Amino acid sequence: MKVLITGANGFLGQHLSMYMQNKAYSVIAVSRGIKRIPNADIVYHSVELTDQQAVSSLINLVQPDVIIHTAAMSKPDECHLNREACTLHNVTATEWLLEAAANVAARFIYISTDFIFGEGGPHAETATPDPLNFYGQSKWMAEKLVRSSRLNQNIIRPVFIYGAHWEGMRPSFIQWVSKNLAANQQIRVVTDQHRTPTYVLDICKGIDLLLQVQTNGDFHFAGEEIISPYHMALTVAKVAGLDPQLIEPVTAAVFPEIVRRAKDSGLQIEKAKTILGYLPTGFEEGVRLSFA
Ligand SMILES: NC(=O)c1ccc[n+]([C@@H]2O[C@H](COP(=O)([O-])OP(=O)(O)OC[C@H]3O[C@@H](n4cnc5c(N)ncnc54)[C@H](OP(=O)(O)O)[C@@H]3O)[C@@H](O)[C@H]2O)c1
Repeated sequence: MKVLITGANGFLGQHLSMYMQNKAYSVIAVSRGIKRIPNADIVYHSVELTDQQAVSSLINLVQPDVIIHTAAMSKPDECHLNREACTLHNVTATEWLLEAAANVAARFIYISTDFIFGEGGPHAETATPDPLNFYGQSKWMAEKLVRSSRLNQNIIRPVFIYGAHWEGMRPSFIQWVSKNLAANQQIRVVTDQHRTPTYVLDICKGIDLLLQVQTNGDFHFAGEEIISPYHMALTVAKVAGLDPQLIEPVTAAVFPEIVRRAKDSGLQIEKAKTILGYLPTGFEEGVRLSFA
């Protein structure tokens, strides 16, 4: 099966490209700039996805069976400060990909986010969207485009992704924690936000399961535990053998945030467990695997 992965230089994109290649899918990785995935065997194309002609040419050339669209302007603050660019990268680029996918009848797997929901998590797939910021709105707009396409399609929603890190990749929260604690730096971490953090390889496994089952629809791929960033930071300290006293518990109110974020977000995963046999990694185990 030929699988084209956008955002392949990103945190999820790099893990997913490597995972799918090891699972003997034929991977075509797509991102901007030079290839940053540390696997010489993976075919790579540098394409700006907001360029409709470039997207159309790429898809016609590659003729993928599946397109996994992970590319996005993924920082909520950046999206808030530059709404036009956010719309272009998160919505318009998705539109060009959907149009091109229709020409080759590819399955379309769109990576969305828990940010399409508001308070009251953990949310089920059937919960009513209520994005609290422009990033969430842009991802919700893209979801609507995907859903209204006539393609075989899935919307996947992860939460607070973490996992192993290597050079050429942006670090996830757990690397930020371990780097600071290892340098004996005090950090302030919030206690009054709750998430169901997702181990990055669980998303990869979930997508593999999805491609075996070949069913349409939305799936939440998240962890099972509902925990605060403070709890996550304490777990990192425990697993990495670092000093937990350096982690100061604070409320979100001490950080004047540019955009609104839900206090209680996170996603329910019963549907993925029942239909796909999705089995998430526990948070402590995921952190252990990330630093192994
Ligand atoms: N990280 C999380 O905790 C989280 C949680 C829930 C959902 N998600 C979703 O999961 C997906 C992956 O997130 P991530 O954290 O792995 O993102 P990331 O590290 O920011 O990577 C995104 C990638 O997309 C590429 N990209 C963006 N716009 C592009 C364009 N116009 N043309 C070509 N490539 C483009 C970027 O390329 P360059 O590197 O060259 O700029 C980057 O490599 C996103 O859709 C995000 O919304 C993330």
